[in-house]
Formats: sequence, C-alpha cells, structure tokens
Amino acid sequence: MAVFEEIVDENGVYKFFYDGVWRKSSSGKSVTIINPTTRKPHFRVQACTQEEVNKVVETAKLAQKSWAKTPLWKRAELLHKAAAILKEQKAPIAECLVKEIAKPAKDAVTEVVRSGDLVSYCAEEGVRILGEGKLLVSDSFPGNERTKYCLTSKIPLGVVLAIPPFNYPVNLAVSKIAPALIAGNSIVLKPPTQGAVAALHMVHCFHLAGFPKGLISCVTGKGSEIGDFLTMHPSINCISFTGGDTGISISKKAGMIPLQMELGGKDACIILEDADLDLAAANIVKGGFSYSGQRCTAVKVALVMESVADTLVEKVKAKVAKLTVGAPEDDCDITPVVTESSANFIEGLVMDAKQKAATFCQEYKREGNLIWPLLLDNVLPDMRIAWEEPFGPVLPVIRINSVEEGIHHCNASNFGLQGCVFTRDINKAILISDAMETGTVQINSAPSRGPDHFPFQGLKDSGIGSQGITNSINMMTKIKSTVINLPTPSYTVG
Ligand code: G3H
Repeated sequence: MAVFEEIVDENGVYKFFYDGVWRKSSSGKSVTIINPTTRKPHFRVQACTQEEVNKVVETAKLAQKSWAKTPLWKRAELLHKAAAILKEQKAPIAECLVKEIAKPAKDAVTEVVRSGDLVSYCAEEGVRILGEGKLLVSDSFPGNERTKYCLTSKIPLGVVLAIPPFNYPVNLAVSKIAPALIAGNSIVLKPPTQGAVAALHMVHCFHLAGFPKGLISCVTGKGSEIGDFLTMHPSINCISFTGGDTGISISKKAGMIPLQMELGGKDACIILEDADLDLAAANIVKGGFSYSGQRCTAVKVALVMESVADTLVEKVKAKVAKLTVGAPEDDCDITPVVTESSANFIEGLVMDAKQKAATFCQEYKREGNLIWPLLLDNVLPDMRIAWEEPFGPVLPVIRINSVEEGIHHCNASNFGLQGCVFTRDINKAILISDAMETGTVQINSAPSRGPDHFPFQGLKDSGIGSQGITNSINMMTKIKSTVINLPTPSYTVG
C-alpha cells in the first residue's frame, strides 16, 4: 500500500517514529516478528536504543506544551480525521493483525473499525467533559463568608506512555492514545513485539491526519533494552499499560505518576439451576474460545451447579465440535496462539489437569502453535487450570453444589477483572454480582470490555484504576483550581 511506503526501510525493516519523521535506529539492529501460523519470521522492526528513547521522550515533552494550548475543538477535529483514515486503511492494518498475531481475518477488520469508532467517540466525549469546569463558593464550609470563589478545570498530565498488549495492538493502543491526546497530553507508544507492525500502521494514520510534530511517537525494540528505561523515565508523567504481570513490576518501579493498568483475569462464569442453558452454553463458547481464548475478558472457568452440569456440558460440547480450527486467513474460529512459549504453557496446564484426572471432553490435539479447543470437566481446586490463566482455547468446568461455593472460588482468585452469572432470577443475580470481587459482573452474558465507553476495571492483581473512554480521559488529566479572593463587603444588603 503506497500510503505506508515511508514506514519501511530499504531492507524491509519497519521504522520507528518521532518528531514527525519515520526513522531507522542507530543500533543497526532489528527485532524479528514470527508469524504464529507459519512459525517463520514475517516482519522486522527497529531495535531502538536508550539514547533514542531519551530523544523521543524529550521531544514529546516539548510538543505537549503547545498542544495543551491548542483549542479543544481543534484537537477533536484532528482525532476525527485520524479515525476516518484508520477506517479507510482497515484492510492493510487488519492484514498485519492476521500475520503478526493470527487474529481471524474478520475479527482483525473489526478491531480496526472499532478503533476508529473509539477515537471519534473519544473526541466527542472529550469536548463535552473537558469543556466543563466547576465553581465552588466558600460559604458552604463552616466558618466561611462568601468571599472565595474556586474555579476548577481539567488540565493535561504531560507525556503519557502507552503500552498495549499483543491481543489488541491497535484497539488497546488507541484506547490510550485518543484520551491522552484529547486531554492535551503527548503520547509515546511502545507496542508489543507481536502486533508492532499493525501499531506502526495505526500511528501512520494519526501522522497522516496532521497532528503536530513530536506529539505522537512510537518506539520499538527489546523490552530488556528499553523497557525499564522507558517506564522509569523522569519525563514520563503517566503510564497506561495493558498486559500480563509485567504490569506489577512496572507499578513497583514507576515513580509518583498516575498509573492505569489492566493485567489479566480469571473470569468466572457461574451457572445457576434456573439458567437458560442454551444461552449460557452459547456465551461460554463465545466467551471462552473467541480469539482462541486470548482475551483478558475470556471466560476462564465455568462454575456450574451440579444438577445442571451434565446438560450444560453436553450443550457446550456440541458447540465446541462446530468450531473451525485452522489459519486466521481462512477466518477460522480457533487459530494458532501467539507464540510457541504460550502454546507450551497452555500444554503444561493441560498435562497437569490430565495427571490429576480431569475429564477431557475432547482429545487434546496440538500442531505447532495451533491447539484444538478443549473443554475440561470435573476440574478440581488442586489443578493449576482452576486458578491460572491459560490465554488459550482451554476451558475448565468446576462443578459446584451451592452458589456460595461458586462465589468463594471466584473470590479466592488473585485476579478480579470480570465475572458473569446466568440465572433467570434478577434478584439473585444482583446479590451474586455484589458478592463477586471483580470490577464488572455481566448478568446473562459473557464478560466483555465493550462497548468502549463503559467503565472497565479490575480489582486485586487485575489492575489499577478504571478505563473506558470517559474514565480514561479523566484519568489522563489533573484538576487545576484558581481561587478568587474577594474583600469582605463593607456594606450590608437588605
Ligand atoms: O484482553 C483484554 C481486552 O481488554 C479484552 O477486550 O472484551 O473487547 O475482548 P474484549
């Protein structure tokens, strides 16, 4: 695609981006991206140095100063332009997602379109919420006269560092970039290695929209070389991270700056005796196996009342049998997981469950990174799969004898992202939602982050802060107050 020509060098290595220019790293080195399906090298990106990271961050710091003074409506206008370009370029970007992270072809397009919608919504929401401030008067607090007027408004934080994960390298990048920009911040993006090329294409769409130089940068490279250097950089004023437990170490090392983190989950699905079992089965399969289970919001354990477990498991098995398995280009439901080490980890969980006598509803099958969907019944708490996140197409079923047992299992997890409950009794559903220690509980549907303006947050090891468009904009601002002090009136009225 001609529009993306300038982002690749003569050797086919993707460039990194700062100060409005696509560049080659002075390291002369690159990082190879392996196609999960072929398991062969597919793309290469620059291996940036710490010195380059320094320049990127300092440029972002400078650019932010004038961006903060750019009228809000102009910021919104540019975001709308970027959203339109992103949508126009959905095909080549989706193609990268297919090759880099084996996302099924249709889902890859959906991710890009969803991202364009998110950017537009963010522009509109930003204009509304940042266009408003507050006025407080002093005589509402004991002992005060009406002599002080406090005006508050929201101002940007400075340079926001965005670190999205491999499973949504475009969508979870723009969910950080758009709120940061509308709020008047500059952005430094560090994409995941798998997904970096899709992210670079997305950044180019923002560049084509005409954002000022230096405002948006994207650095690629090895986490071991530039990871800590970036996250601990003194000129970074906020980190928005989605990913695994690397987030926990980032949060320990980051300085006194706001953090927004989403670090995975072990999302439980509780199925009561009165549930619509067809609805529950459909959601378990969609929730557990879409994008081969590589979603933080995937159903990661089904906690089923014993009296309906046989029927439910049969229904789920029948649906699992219909899932197509194969290449992302063919838009199969189940595609190769992102890396060989992920596949090995998933296999380790499966073998542990086998050794401890879980019931295999299908035969375990793996070819390279491709793992066939697997439902494990009669999983017990001593099995690793009962607690650990496979991030793959393997779903454990734990049979429970009471609702309390289900809630207890959910709450014993170190994660607390989302959960769901299937029942026809809304009162019970609300009580269970209140009892589940998760950021969100879905009633009669599988866990899910979207729509993207809904609040999205995890408790415990699942995260810090709340996301969703409105919450992210607010999170990427601070409150500024100006107090007008009036003289005590020398006259009395009335
Ligand atoms: O993997 C984590 C994502 O936030 C999940 O998003 O529910 O839209 O798949 P999703």
